[in-house]
Amino acid sequence: MLEGIFESSTSVSLFGLFVALLVFFHFFISIFSSQERREPPGPRPLPLFGNLFQLNLKRLSQNLYDLSKTYGPVFQVSFGPKKVVVLAGHKIVKQALVNQAEQFASREITKAFYYINKEHGIILANGDSWKEMKHFARTTLKDFGMGRKTSEEIIIEESVNLIKEFEQFQGEAFDNSVALTYATSNVISALMFGKRFEYTDPFIKQMVERNQETIHLMGSASVQIYNMLPLIGPLLKDWRDLKEKIDTTLNDSRTIIADLKETLNPEVCRCFVDAFLLHKKRLEDSGISNSHYHDENLLHSVNDLFGAGTDTTATTLMWSLLYMVKFPQIQDRVQEDLSRVIGSRQVRMEDRKNLPYVDAVIHETQRFANVAHIISRTTTKNVTLEGYVIKEGTTVLPLPVSVLFDENEWESPYIFNPSHFLDKEGKFIKRDAFFAFSAGRRACLGESLAKMELFLIFASLLQHFRFTPSPGVSEDELDLKPVEGLIFTPKVQKLCAVLRH
Ligand code: HEM
Repeated sequence: MLEGIFESSTSVSLFGLFVALLVFFHFFISIFSSQERREPPGPRPLPLFGNLFQLNLKRLSQNLYDLSKTYGPVFQVSFGPKKVVVLAGHKIVKQALVNQAEQFASREITKAFYYINKEHGIILANGDSWKEMKHFARTTLKDFGMGRKTSEEIIIEESVNLIKEFEQFQGEAFDNSVALTYATSNVISALMFGKRFEYTDPFIKQMVERNQETIHLMGSASVQIYNMLPLIGPLLKDWRDLKEKIDTTLNDSRTIIADLKETLNPEVCRCFVDAFLLHKKRLEDSGISNSHYHDENLLHSVNDLFGAGTDTTATTLMWSLLYMVKFPQIQDRVQEDLSRVIGSRQVRMEDRKNLPYVDAVIHETQRFANVAHIISRTTTKNVTLEGYVIKEGTTVLPLPVSVLFDENEWESPYIFNPSHFLDKEGKFIKRDAFFAFSAGRRACLGESLAKMELFLIFASLLQHFRFTPSPGVSEDELDLKPVEGLIFTPKVQKLCAVLRH
């Protein structure tokens, strides 16, 4: 009897154990899968307005970085009804953009972007056309040098002109932003069109001013409103102005491209436009007439390279000179090294390896200035990150500030410290969290050109001039806070360029 009871109680307890295990596994799996389905956390949004009233749109990237301290490295905010996922910190940004590169490779084409590019070109395009255009631009820019003037020669010629321009101020204080932008614009112009413009040419003046206004207008509230309600576009003055500027810029480029087409000679490739037209012709000659190599892709690729390559590089140079004035001991060290290694001859790219401190100062400038402070991507499929699901087609903002100032990566993130890029022996070291050109499939295609420009122009200027504040202004009074916009630019503060020799 006892045995019977014992037997039956054993089977009951075994059954109980089995049920308990089932319940446990079910519970565990459901927790796990609900974790998997979890949306990223974030501040509670209001209906229709989302988090608009809680966000500081004027200091958006810093504001989002601050929010990441509360909500973690993956969180979401709502811009009106639209949810946007923010990624903060080197670890998570790398996990997304590099380890899941394909899933984060897309750009969101807003109504305003569509008006501008119609999904042609490179920056605001996706899919096969984007891949082909990016690949073509990268390889063509790399090829410069074979039979043509090399990029290095083009940049050296421009730095010589820049030095002449700075000399004209004879040590008096002036705003260097104009000449620096003409210089970087001329580098792109020489590569794209095979010609540079004198700094007195009204064409370059108008073009540079228009591009800067375009960048400013692109960041205006009107563009956001147009994106949400395109039908009221004609009522928005900023949007009307922006359209007019974009149309003028495109028409100018069309005229130059038409001239190059007329004088095209298959034996001589003068520039990027020629390379594109010749490639197109080769495809057509071999019977391929419906390729991505059409007029609209040419026009918008050229414009994208101007748009992405001019102000970013010029602004970085403006910061570099401002930092040299703000931190004169660092300028001393740069000039000592330049005098010792180069003397008075022309500086060249091959000198960079012998100038690790100069190289480190340039990298630290890029880190500290965080020029391209806002980048945005869209997910190409559902993605899981830190256990959160981000749905296909979601706009994602990986925050450059959170990588370039990541306290887990940099020894002294909030101090301008070139040693971040030097080892104990003073040799230059690459840093994984150097994110100035972004990472992954959408990373900057002009990185090597930009690095060449930054090195050659910065070194040439520092070789020739001592940079100082305007008379009566102390180094402490120089303001390092950026002007907010699509890119971070320094406030206009006149500096003196005093000849060294
Ligand atoms: C110091 C100068 C520069 C900086 C800081 C910079 C930075 C960047 C950044 C952060 C991106 C965004 C990548 C992303 O979405 O993740 C980008 C994209 C791009 N950059 Fe640059 N850039 C510079 C110079 C240049 C130059 C000189 C060129 C061209 C000659 C150029 C061409 C482009 C293009 C075409 C893209 C779009 C790539 C794509 O959508 O696939 N950039 N750049």
